[in-house]
Amino acid sequence: MEIKLITEHKEDYFEWLLLADEQKELVEAYLYQGDMWALEEEGVKTVSIVIFKDRQTCELKNLVTLPSHQGHGYGNKMIQFLFSYYHSSYQYMEVGTGDSPKTIPFYEKCGFKRDHIIPNFFLDHYDHPIIEDGVLLKDMIYLKKEL
Ligand SMILES: CC(C)(COP(=O)(O)OP(=O)(O)OC[C@H]1O[C@@H](n2cnc3c(N)ncnc32)[C@H](O)[C@@H]1OP(=O)(O)O)[C@@H](O)C(=O)NCCC(=O)NCCS
Repeated sequence: MEIKLITEHKEDYFEWLLLADEQKELVEAYLYQGDMWALEEEGVKTVSIVIFKDRQTCELKNLVTLPSHQGHGYGNKMIQFLFSYYHSSYQYMEVGTGDSPKTIPFYEKCGFKRDHIIPNFFLDHYDHPIIEDGVLLKDMIYLKKEL
């Protein structure tokens, strides 16, 4: 298994990124910002994007594991790699997600802790309702990890 920095043809992963973030304009806005990483094991299994918020804080902006390979530890391996990679340059990593049982327990298991919320983020920034497990997402929940 190896995790590689992707510097060219980032748009090849656009459809993957939409699985984690349905709003195209938001994905387009951060696709070429920051670093894109791909975890490969007999092909790419997980992709992530990390952007830089300020001198202390980087943000995991998108993380997706190919649906047929979810639950095999790839997402966690990617996150543990990112923690150690950015440890020397940043003090914190943040991640924002909907209040969903699909993602919050996953990020907590990986080591993030709930930090703050942005009320109504999904209602204000998405052009259609985002429903996960039958629940309408409203607030953006930010989780944080000291690196
Ligand atoms: C969220 C996502 C990235 C997780 O990636 P993954 O490769 O499937 O995750 P892993 O297999 O590494 O799971 C790591 C751990 O979290 C646990 N976990 C994963 N999803 C979970 C959930 N919904 N509830 C509780 N635990 C969960 C796993 O059981 C595993 O624990 P273990 O190590 O004790 O077995 C993946 O499900 C995905 O791509 N989902 C669609 C896109 C998305 O929603 N991205 C996040 C946007 S904020």
